[in-house]
Parts: sequence; C-alpha cells; structure tokens
Amino acid sequence: MFNTHNRPRIMLATACLLVASIGSLPSVAQTKRSPVAPNRERVEAAVREAYEKFRSDTNGKNADYIPYLAQVDSKMFGIAVVTTDNQVVTLGDVNYSFSIQSISKVFTLALAMGELGPDKVFEKIGSEPTGRPFNSPLAVVDMPTHTGNPLVNAGAIATTSLIPGRNAAEKWNKILDFYSRAAGEKLVLIDEVYKSEAATNTGNKALSYLLAKYDRIYADPFESVDIYTKQCSVGVNATQLARMGATLANNGINPATGEQVIKSEDIPHILSTMTMAGLYDGSGGWAWRVGLPAKSGVGGGIVAIAPGKGAIAVFAPPLDEAGNSVKAQEVIDYVAQQLNYNLYSPSSVGLK
Ligand code: DON
Repeated sequence: MFNTHNRPRIMLATACLLVASIGSLPSVAQTKRSPVAPNRERVEAAVREAYEKFRSDTNGKNADYIPYLAQVDSKMFGIAVVTTDNQVVTLGDVNYSFSIQSISKVFTLALAMGELGPDKVFEKIGSEPTGRPFNSPLAVVDMPTHTGNPLVNAGAIATTSLIPGRNAAEKWNKILDFYSRAAGEKLVLIDEVYKSEAATNTGNKALSYLLAKYDRIYADPFESVDIYTKQCSVGVNATQLARMGATLANNGINPATGEQVIKSEDIPHILSTMTMAGLYDGSGGWAWRVGLPAKSGVGGGIVAIAPGKGAIAVFAPPLDEAGNSVKAQEVIDYVAQQLNYNLYSPSSVGLK
C-alpha cells in the first residue's frame, strides 16, 4: 500500500496534518477551552449572513447631542465575535476607533466591585431598572435609591465617584488601565470626543448635583462627571469591544492574554445588571427577543455576552429612540439566534 507511487500523496497528507495541528496549538486561553464555545464555521456563516442582511438598513439617526458624534459616517458597519477560546471572527469596519460611551459603564462597575466588593456597590448604587431614558433626572428624583442602577447616567456617574484614588488623575488612569486589560490592548482617549462632550454635558452636571442633594454621589460631583466623560470618550474598535465582552463571557479572564481581569464572583452581578438595564428603556424588549445581557453606547456600539461562549460586538452609528444602535441590535439578534445563544432557552446548553 505504501508504494513509491503513493509517496507524494502521503507527504501531502502529512503536511496537511502538520498545518492543521499547528493551527490548533493551544494558546494561553485554549488550554482552558470552554466546553460550550461555538464552532468557528457556524460563527463565520452567521456573521456573513447578518452583514449582508442588514448592511443596507438606513433606519435610525446618529446621536447629535454630542456634536462630534453627529459627524461620524453613518454608513460605517463592523461586526466582531470573540469566543471564550479566543477565536476572532470579524467583518466590515472593525478597525475604526469609535467612542465606547455608555458601554464604559459596565467596566467601571466591574472595577468598582473589584475595589470595594459587590455588596458595597449594591448598597451605594443599587440595581433597579428605571424604565426611563438613560439621562433622566426624573428617575433620580423618583427612584427610592436615586442612583437607579450603574448603567444609567446618574448611577454611572455615582459609580465612577466610588473609584478610589488620591486625585482625579489617579482615578482616571486606574479606569483606563482597567479597560485596557479587559480589551487586551492599550486603549486611549479620543480627545475630540472628550472636548465635544465636556463642552455640552450640562445635563450630566445637573444629574451629579441632584445626586449630591440625596447624598448619592461619593466624590466631588463635577470631578466625577469629568472622569465619567473621559471614560465615555475612550476609543475602541469592534474587535477590542468584542474582546472586552469575551472577558465577561469567560468568567473575567481575558481570552487573549489569560489575565483574570474581573473577579469571577462579580460576573453574575454585572451580567444581570446588563440584562435589566443595558439597553435602557429598550431592555425589556431586548431580553424578550434576544435573551442576552448587552450594553449599548451612543457612539453606535453594542456588545452582547453569551456566558461561557463569547461576545458579539457591532458598530453602526444610527440609533433608535432609546439610544441603541439599530443595526447592532438587528445583527446581534440574528447571530444569537443562529448560534442558539439565548440564555433563557434550555436548548442553548444542549437540551433538545
Ligand atoms: O453621558 C452621556 O450621555 C454619554 N456620554 C453616554 C450615553 C450613552 O452612551 C447612552 N447609550 N446608549
């Protein structure tokens, strides 16, 4: 059987095997492969189909209350999936750095819990949906906790105010460093976004003083708003955002670097908060349709987390009335269905 005539074929087969095994050499993260991480071909197909299906949807409108955001090209569209075993699947405008905006709130919450413990954060901020727009002063007045939850502006500014540090610069550096560790790459501030937002954020300043009236802000109100404005102006591309999400999906361990960035015991608190309030007054409908914790930002990004499996990040600037990217919602909904990600569906963990 192994005659000379077959030798080239045998050599070719051996070479193929070698390439295949090199391709699957375990990286830091793959040595702890999640048993539920999805198969790459399925992810690629779902991403490709979603991109084609929704690329020409022109619904929604760029945020314009932050002047910089109104100028961003509305046609940009990028999808990135990072799995817990660090497979990366991307399509479209995935290298453009957009402002993380409200998605930052998730990671400042994670940092605050790491620094103070989850109980303290729950006591100081709470975790109740407001049922109101993300920047609502009425929610601050109405809610028994006043802060509502860490993902609306008031609760987020209060969460930022909890970050310990000797001065504003130290607090800010701690936040930026933490985001970078979650992304697995050094992230930077987009200075024009920061300046544009800092010049127009009177509403957030008002929220910070309203919180002070109820003793629900824990550092200087305007200093806290300034640090919060910087955190919202951090630039991420879709791939970096997906990796930040995959860190949450992977029990707090960055799948690319292997670093435990977020304590695993904090993850359920973060993901449940995202489920209740991640898409603000659109969160109920989102949970009903998609069944995944997610967070949106007015920069046009949304990241959704499939615990144990991975994260889907989409960047597309036009937003709906609640401030959530229209195309990002459509894509995540579609990809999550194709990959059977809905947390509330027992079939997502293999039950037939
Ligand atoms: O404070 C603000 O209004 C913005 N920096 C962030 C708001 C935001 O991203 C809401 N998201 N969908």
